[in-house]
Amino acid sequence: MTLSSESSSELIHALRSDPATLPTSLFGLPGEPPHERVLLVADEQTGLKAFIAVHSTARGPAFGGCRFWRYDNELAALNDALRLSQGMSLKNALADLPFGGGKAVIIKPAGEFDRPALFSAFGRAVQSLSGVYITAEDVGTTTDDMLGMREHTAFVSGIPRDGSFGGDPSPKTAWGVFVAIKAGVRAHLQRDSLDGVRVGLQGLGAVGWHLAGFLHLEGAKLVVADVDAGRVKRAQEVFNADAVPADEIIGADVDVLAPCALGAVFDERSVPKVRARLIGGAANNQLAKPDDGDALHQRGILYLPDYLINAGGIVSVAREYRNEGDEQMVMAEVTRIGERVDELLQRAASSGLPPAREADAWARSKLVRPD
Ligand code: NAI
Repeated sequence: MTLSSESSSELIHALRSDPATLPTSLFGLPGEPPHERVLLVADEQTGLKAFIAVHSTARGPAFGGCRFWRYDNELAALNDALRLSQGMSLKNALADLPFGGGKAVIIKPAGEFDRPALFSAFGRAVQSLSGVYITAEDVGTTTDDMLGMREHTAFVSGIPRDGSFGGDPSPKTAWGVFVAIKAGVRAHLQRDSLDGVRVGLQGLGAVGWHLAGFLHLEGAKLVVADVDAGRVKRAQEVFNADAVPADEIIGADVDVLAPCALGAVFDERSVPKVRARLIGGAANNQLAKPDDGDALHQRGILYLPDYLINAGGIVSVAREYRNEGDEQMVMAEVTRIGERVDELLQRAASSGLPPAREADAWARSKLVRPD
């Protein structure tokens, strides 16, 4: 980890003042092998403060998006970067991509800031890693941010090409989640169609909105929640969705729950409230802890691991980055996420492990350089 003197003193202050977010190590997650690299980036002129976490390069360069978010403190941002980058290693491995796992987190400055200048500074930081880490969009970042960064680094993807292939990964992510939900509904709810299946959608953003469209077209009945009332109203109009308050969606009376907002939605308090029998959504790190996945399993709820089913976006930006294939091939590759769900359920049936534990073991067994 690279620490500037100013930032390290702030970090130590945060360590002392907020023990709740204190990681046991700055180099990795509790009980896990350390990350390969964690770069702390600060640029006084633009106000940039960011972490670039490289979890593993065993399969190739670490590939994963850049989150732009307001955090309570620097340690919360570091923790997010550590957790998200580990998730990217598992996601890229299960998607059979020749990439390792990494993620960047930029702390959104309080007050006014010059966005293009901030992302230029971040692009220079990505370039300084000489390709060990490749960036793309994540929550809070846009294709325009990626375009701006491309002036400063070659190691960026998620930029539209020829009007169709590449660019915003969110529709591909939504498609992968959609095919996974269909596979889960077939296997766990014994229903061949989504017609009349009630799906609770938490978050109607870039991914959630596209997912809502796919589900609606297949006849699912949507129950939606978002902290943005405008998006909820639009979903009621466009998809004839029912709406519930944001703090009630986890316990909504639905068959399927699709979390598409932020992480750690399932913990000791929320798991007992879930009424859905299947969970499949785009949000990263939905389980606060692995034990929460066990608790869902014990309740007979099939939890489809986020990093297995939300890989559509990384498949898209990875193929774009390597200049491989075209739109049709990427869609076919993303559609295979449905088959991976079937394979996971078969593996879990033979091992006797809950599917979330099985997915973890399966992904970790693939954290080696592909042939
Ligand atoms: P987004 O920022 O476009 O949308 C998030 C939506 O959730 C917003 O509409 C927001 O108002 C809403 N929201 C926030 N807090 C909420 C709450 N407490 N209750 C209900 N709604 C809430 O983000 P995006 O890109 O749609 O991503 C959603 C999730 O999927 C994130 O966790 C992201 O990391 C993950 N993901 C996204 C990928 C992509 O291609 N965009 C790829 C893989 C994962």
